Amino acid sequence: MLIRNAPDIRSSEITPKSLYLRRREFIGAASGAAVAAAAALAPGHADAQARTKLPNVAKSKYSTSEEPNSYEDITTYNNFYEFGAEKDEPAVNARRFQTRPWTIRVEGLVKTPGTHDIDAFIKPHMLEERIYRMRCVEAWSIVVPWVGIPLASVIKQLDPLPSAKFVEFVTLYDPIKMPGQRVPILRYPYVEGLRMDEAMHPLTILAVGLYGEVLPNQNGAPIRLVVPWKYGFKGIKSIVRIRFSDTQPKSTWEISAPREYGFYANVNPSVDHPRWSQATERRLGEFRRRKTEMFNGYADQVAGLYSGMDLRRNY
Ligand code: MTE
Repeated sequence: MLIRNAPDIRSSEITPKSLYLRRREFIGAASGAAVAAAAALAPGHADAQARTKLPNVAKSKYSTSEEPNSYEDITTYNNFYEFGAEKDEPAVNARRFQTRPWTIRVEGLVKTPGTHDIDAFIKPHMLEERIYRMRCVEAWSIVVPWVGIPLASVIKQLDPLPSAKFVEFVTLYDPIKMPGQRVPILRYPYVEGLRMDEAMHPLTILAVGLYGEVLPNQNGAPIRLVVPWKYGFKGIKSIVRIRFSDTQPKSTWEISAPREYGFYANVNPSVDHPRWSQATERRLGEFRRRKTEMFNGYADQVAGLYSGMDLRRNY
């Protein structure tokens, strides 16, 4: 497999140096082995549901015709710091993570605040396959056949107030079940946000599966955000809270390293990361680098959301 050659930027590089050094100090107390052992002891059953087929998944006109990466690529090369900071750790450490029962709390500027069981929240008859190009801020890319529902349809049902301008998403906080949360690389729980028009855009989905099956734990089970024109870190995993607000949320990576990661995080080959170029990318499984496209190739659909904005400042 070529995928092990893919990383050009290592976790130690993407992670702000001060945080990385803190992590290394911490390693004596919570080594990778300790994290793995804690994961193995966490309550719950094995990932039996991970290979469960999702019925009646409709095709979508929004899918790319590009060839998806293999199931193996997509499920063994992950960023999910709650289960370890190396790419191969989430697949191992999230194996026994329990994703049922699972509730999602809806709060803030919305007419229907409350707590919803995920199986009432996402109705199986609404599921669509969306094959999307995904571009990580670390300059690799991947094509994923997600299964999910448009976030817009969920938001319409929840009925936010006109004063709601942003949506914030929060990942589960449970350092017993998510042992990486005991390692202070990032501030937990992981938080992400979108402007309301970005959230309502037809390309934005909540994913509950991939390759026609229930979402594997390491990819953000039971439910995660997918925004294909933004860097992968916007795609927050294992969501337990959705909050509507009138102020721009502070996202996790923005808090960790505000000079390096902004709120917008739109894929933009002409705005380099302060420590590396974003002009090209390596598709997992390929040798030759590709040119990165503006808005990850989705400019025709999304550029209008940002007209008049200086995308160098609003990175
Ligand atoms: N969500 C949470 N809660 N924790 C994380 O560490 N990593 C992000 C994003 N969502 C992350 C997360 C990053 S950096 C990327 S590139 C994508 O998840 C990776 O998604 P994938 O593993 O399904 O490819």
